[in-house]
Amino acid sequence: MTRVLSCIQPTGDVHLGNYLGALAPWVAGQHEHDAFHGIVDLHALTVAEEPGVIGARTVQLAAMLFAVGLDADVATVFVQSHVPEHSQLAWVMECNVSFGELSRMVQFKEKSAKREFVSGGLFTYPALQAADILLYDTDEVPVGDDQRQHVEITRDIALRFNHRFGATFVVPRAVTPRAGARVMDLQDPTAKMSKSADTGAGLIQMLDDAEMIRRKFKRAVTDSETDVRYDPETKPGVSNLLEILGAATGHPPADLVAGYTQYGPLKADAGEAVIELLTPIQARYRDLLADRGELTAMLRRGAERAGEVAAATLERAYTAIGFLRS
Ligand code: AMP
Ligand code: TRP
Repeated sequence: MTRVLSCIQPTGDVHLGNYLGALAPWVAGQHEHDAFHGIVDLHALTVAEEPGVIGARTVQLAAMLFAVGLDADVATVFVQSHVPEHSQLAWVMECNVSFGELSRMVQFKEKSAKREFVSGGLFTYPALQAADILLYDTDEVPVGDDQRQHVEITRDIALRFNHRFGATFVVPRAVTPRAGARVMDLQDPTAKMSKSADTGAGLIQMLDDAEMIRRKFKRAVTDSETDVRYDPETKPGVSNLLEILGAATGHPPADLVAGYTQYGPLKADAGEAVIELLTPIQARYRDLLADRGELTAMLRRGAERAGEVAAATLERAYTAIGFLRS
């Protein structure tokens, strides 16, 4: 079975766009390939946070991943720092990538330009990501455009290492993630729904209650016409409502058009569909967080399974290098 690795940083709350765009496809995909899902807390350390914040977000994110339907018995869901091989292999990666290659990373250039304190970790971040990927003999890494360069550098490191020390790593490929819905901001439907939105009014959080969701949909920005059509170019607001309603109920958005002659009922139905979608997820999320022992046990099992693969790969790399093994 194809091994597929997706990782997510425990920074910020999960919103409806993340769910419909990324997590829902993960849930669907877990039965079709050998899915590994890492919560990459070491990577989150490149953002300055108060002590304890990353851990709290890690628990919440794990609960959300299981609440939306990742199954701990089907997919391998683990926390990066629970598998020490990530840090260990990262050093090997750092010694097989050049300063020049790392300097060309667009994400580093962008992020370092905005910060006063630019850590060494921000610079070597792609080496840790390469370790994440290569540790699991990953065939495919589904990533958006912003992460393609990091998968490319991972391939370059794997090829270089294999050439220098003998065949050790599977050379992964970046793939376009299975298409989920693209959810736009309810207040500015030309912009993607995002945690960095100016106001929260256009953003549906996974934990928003029914009243809040109703209110946000009621106030959703549409246009000055009155007809309901699916046309993201000229009618982004209305099309976004159709997109969300469709994703929440399992219909292509264009098929829903016939059911509406006015915006009001479309907004109301989209809101109710999202409430119906999120209510059971929220209940499972609360149950999971209420039983921290069970949640931790699920993550421990994930880390054990991940650790077995990771330990074997690290040992293979150390042996190929020719480190003294006892
Ligand atoms: P981010 O937190 O922005 O890095 O997003 C995490 C994942 O959610 C990525 O796979 C994104 O492609 C996906 N995602 C984020 N925002 C949206 C959105 N508004 N619509 C669809 N997918 C999204
Ligand atoms: N850098 C990725 C991001 O910001 C997260 C990530 C870390 C990742 N390790 C990975 C993604 C390995 C895919 C594979 O989104």
